[in-house]
Amino acid sequence: PNVRDDKISEETKKLISSLPTHTDSQGQKLCKYQGCWYYYNTLQGVLNFQSGFQPQDTDIIIASYPKSGTTWLKALIVALLERSKNHSSSNDHPLLHDNPHGIVPFLEIDVFHESSSPNLDKFSATPRLFSTHMPLHAMHETLKQTPCKIVYVCRNLKDTLISTWLFACAILKIEPTRSILESMFKSLCNGTIFYGPFWDHLLSYWRGSFEDPKHVLFMRYEEMKSEPHEQIKRLADFLGSPFTKQEEESGSVEEILDLCSLRNLSSLEVNKTGKVNNVDHKNFFRKGEVGDSKNYLTPEMENKIDMIIQEKLQEPETAT
Ligand code: A3P
Repeated sequence: PNVRDDKISEETKKLISSLPTHTDSQGQKLCKYQGCWYYYNTLQGVLNFQSGFQPQDTDIIIASYPKSGTTWLKALIVALLERSKNHSSSNDHPLLHDNPHGIVPFLEIDVFHESSSPNLDKFSATPRLFSTHMPLHAMHETLKQTPCKIVYVCRNLKDTLISTWLFACAILKIEPTRSILESMFKSLCNGTIFYGPFWDHLLSYWRGSFEDPKHVLFMRYEEMKSEPHEQIKRLADFLGSPFTKQEEESGSVEEILDLCSLRNLSSLEVNKTGKVNNVDHKNFFRKGEVGDSKNYLTPEMENKIDMIIQEKLQEPETAT
């Protein structure tokens, strides 16, 4: 992830020298800025975003902690918004031609990674769709004057850990060993991990969704799996484009769920072969199951995570 270190400005280097820093088990350097751990190049993207992003009232921002269901949520929101467009053929749908991450870029990783004034011409259609892994407080100043909408997806921490481990090893093309899992587990538990601590991340959006429910929607991967119809309708309502009776009767909800299913997306040619940010599209799709972590975590690891969740997230009684 530090391949773009050459884009770090002198000013940012100076800032980093005043911040807490840490080198992870893969030798990557992290620093803690406004309560969140970033790789140095990601911090540059965050700073560029904070100083340069000019929000529009209709913007939609998809937010998540990494490996929590971001790809799925992006696909669902793209598909929901596509309903209002009349395609000349069913083959025109953007999800058939690009991976959800190609359609919805990350603000701090893709859009603002090089500059605080990127060319946003290609985002001329409204609403503009962006995504982020930043915690909500990192966007607070930049977005405070705008009624744009933020949708956050959270996932249980055990499955997120396993998903992160297997994804990281797949993209680095290394064997997913227990020792890598154990070191990620440690970092996750002490909070010193990319975009961590997890609990602060989640709480920022959880609180935001209570303080400002019109603008922040908090979704859970597990509920999207167990009650997809209810959750997609909730999402559509929040985005201001509820399903009409006619749409419901004609099976539009099922159509979108089918289109965005892991089975369907991963079988599309574009997702079998393409790449985004040097990551093969196919790596974004694995099992998509709730509780898969049971197959990998020891009872001790599970207990430790349960304890952390209980201690840190007692207040909202959320996320297992
Ligand atoms: P697993 O590794 O547990 O299978 P993110 O999109 O934030 O990177 O999260 C990746 C996780 O979401 C992976 O979980 C992946 O399989 C799952 N996923 C990707 N696309 C999905 C979809 N369309 N429906 C459900 N889960 C999906």
